[in-house]
Amino acid sequence: MDHFLYRDGVLHAEDVPVTDIAAAVGTPFYVYSTATLTRHFHLFDEALEGMDHLVCFAMKSNSNLAVLKLLGEMGAGIDVVSMGEYLKAKAAGVSGDRIVFSGVGKTRDEMRVALEGGIRQFNVESEPELEALNEVAISLGVTAPIALRVNPDVDAKTHAKIATGKSENKFGIPIATCREVYARAAAMDGIDVVGIDVHIGSQLTQLEPFRLAFTKVAELTEALRADGHNIRRLDLGGGLGIPYERSNDAPPLPLEYGEVIKETVGHLGCEVEIEPGRLISGNAGILVSSVIYLKNGEGRDFLIVDAAMNDLVRPSMYDAHHDIVSVVEAEAAVDQHPVDIVGPVCETGDTFAKARNMPPLASGDLVAFRSAGAYGAVMASEYNSRPLIPEVLVHGDQFAVIRARPTFDEMINRDTIPEWL
Ligand code: LLP
Repeated sequence: MDHFLYRDGVLHAEDVPVTDIAAAVGTPFYVYSTATLTRHFHLFDEALEGMDHLVCFAMKSNSNLAVLKLLGEMGAGIDVVSMGEYLKAKAAGVSGDRIVFSGVGKTRDEMRVALEGGIRQFNVESEPELEALNEVAISLGVTAPIALRVNPDVDAKTHAKIATGKSENKFGIPIATCREVYARAAAMDGIDVVGIDVHIGSQLTQLEPFRLAFTKVAELTEALRADGHNIRRLDLGGGLGIPYERSNDAPPLPLEYGEVIKETVGHLGCEVEIEPGRLISGNAGILVSSVIYLKNGEGRDFLIVDAAMNDLVRPSMYDAHHDIVSVVEAEAAVDQHPVDIVGPVCETGDTFAKARNMPPLASGDLVAFRSAGAYGAVMASEYNSRPLIPEVLVHGDQFAVIRARPTFDEMINRDTIPEWL
């Protein structure tokens, strides 16, 4: 459930008509719902009730400072994957003891900044990374709390570009060899082994792959404890999928996912961390765009909108589906027609949907792309010299711009011309 519903024939973001926001900020823009973000965070928190746990929001899905502050104030931890994310999480007021540092290629600079600023744990993905972290920690006179990210060789049954748990993927340490790596880690002066980490992919729509992976983690926990390691924390990653198509079967609920966690690792007495991104932020956001033209092509019609692949890359990058609706609700009786919904960018890949049934729309009409709160704004670029679009946060009947649209001058003036030119 989200908080983007029609009232009196107009799509609202909570209590605010989307048309009001469009009039104030201009299109295209992203808008997020506080109530939906809050609800989704609590769903996970409740799903793990009874276990010592921390829900660490994967901020790669949505890294706006206001979103981070909102979640941080509710008690969320944050999963970061770069120095920029770490510094943003801190700037949003999240303390280091609630920040988990993931990622396959952490640099020594990133390690140093996190160790100096405070960090809950590093999820270490290779032996060279472990050695580097040990050296950095020793040079600072501290110990780095770590979990090793294990690669359980489990098929997440999701899009190939976002599956991470198979042995052929670049992520993690093969589960078969990680006992040796744990032994090495335990002998390092700069390293404090606290747990195990796993993340098998994103947009999972079945529970079985999670069950398989978590069962392997549970077995590994027992083996490592038998080896003498004090495994007290399990980070089970993120990845629970969301319903992108209202008409399709919904993926499992956080509560069902929580049951799988309890069944597989509940008996171990470990503190459990999870790193959901998409399920918290995805359906908490929409992208609002205006129709520029309706173009009648040969055998097909094109709805050309002012958002493009640089604003929302998921359809062109992963052939992802986003429901696209008219902001002014179509009459139930009106005839819908198939149109290709495209942006103005100069490549055919700038296509959001093909042969999508839409009500009649004309220049200036507003459309909304649903489920755009995750991996939307964060993956945007200025391709075709299109400035990044604004982000807006709604709370009840209030809304605020939480990232302003840069001016063209600001965009142009970031480049510099060398003096010899
Ligand atoms: N933890 C780790 C270590 C991750 O790599 C990811 C996502 C997450 C947590 C959060 O996964 P989520 O709960 O959001 O599924 N750009 C792609 C998704 C890439 C996901 C990358 N890692 C998309 O638009 O579908």
